[in-house]
Amino acid sequence: LLNIMIIDTRGTIDKKSCSECRCNHFINLPKNFYNDTFGVDGKPLSPNYKGGLFCCKDELQCKLKKGFEAPRRKLAIRYKITWVDWDQHQIPVRFYILDATDRVKKIGSLVIHDCQAEYTIPPSNAGIKHSPPHTQKANIPIEKGGYLIYSTAHMHTGAVNGTIYGQDGRVLCTSKPTYGKGEEPGNKKGYVVGMSTCYPEPGSIKIKDGEIVTMESRYKSGYRTGVMGHMYIYLVDRLPENIYRPTQV
Ligand SMILES: *[C@@H]1O[C@H](CO)[C@@H](O)[C@H](O)[C@H]1NC(C)=O
Ligand SMILES: *[C@@H]1O[C@H](CO)[C@@H](O)[C@H](O)[C@H]1NC(C)=O
Repeated sequence: LLNIMIIDTRGTIDKKSCSECRCNHFINLPKNFYNDTFGVDGKPLSPNYKGGLFCCKDELQCKLKKGFEAPRRKLAIRYKITWVDWDQHQIPVRFYILDATDRVKKIGSLVIHDCQAEYTIPPSNAGIKHSPPHTQKANIPIEKGGYLIYSTAHMHTGAVNGTIYGQDGRVLCTSKPTYGKGEEPGNKKGYVVGMSTCYPEPGSIKIKDGEIVTMESRYKSGYRTGVMGHMYIYLVDRLPENIYRPTQV
């Protein structure tokens, strides 16, 4: 699966509002938008929904500077798929996305995940120097644990770090953003252009079956909509005898 979202911010009056999908920043939201759009919970969006995924729908257009007309651009994506032939020594990974907005409920032994996918950071503390980052966290039981092989966070601009902790408080992985410094693609000033990854020494970090892992997502304080705090983790049940380390992923 290749999931790509493209937001064209050329000529917009406010790139930040546009890329955070602030609803009131779009000029062509349908009239009954709030009644006709269903949120993650399957219910019509609340009028308190100020921005995020649902306001960045296809064909919606951010407010543009007067008279601005973007030249049409054709974009294409090129990708390469490589593979190795299956052999008995390969060990499958189990892949989870831990979401800092998950409102986990337990009914008896049944665990119900209720991920919001995105959240809003309230404007409190905005502009106050050295105000601490905003933290969003969730305690998530990992039904089937394993050795941690790889982990990285998915976060947006404003991210400070994303961290997962084991039930005993040990840090399993911290992923930190890299901010762009220039103008060229992949290095745009002020935007998150990468998140660091964790490749623990295989066997060194184990999540037990049923262990409650805490996902913590930190952003610089200040109003932001549509932010995300996801951690991708790959787990394996057993370790290979001769550890094969890919040099490139
Ligand atoms: C949305 O639905 C509510 C309740 O049915 C109604 O009162 C309101 O006028 C509707 N809003 C729009 C913009 O259609
Ligand atoms: C994440 O950021 C917070 C706030 O700056 C900092 O206190 C914390 O040490 C960072 N976590 C890690 C594991 O680096």
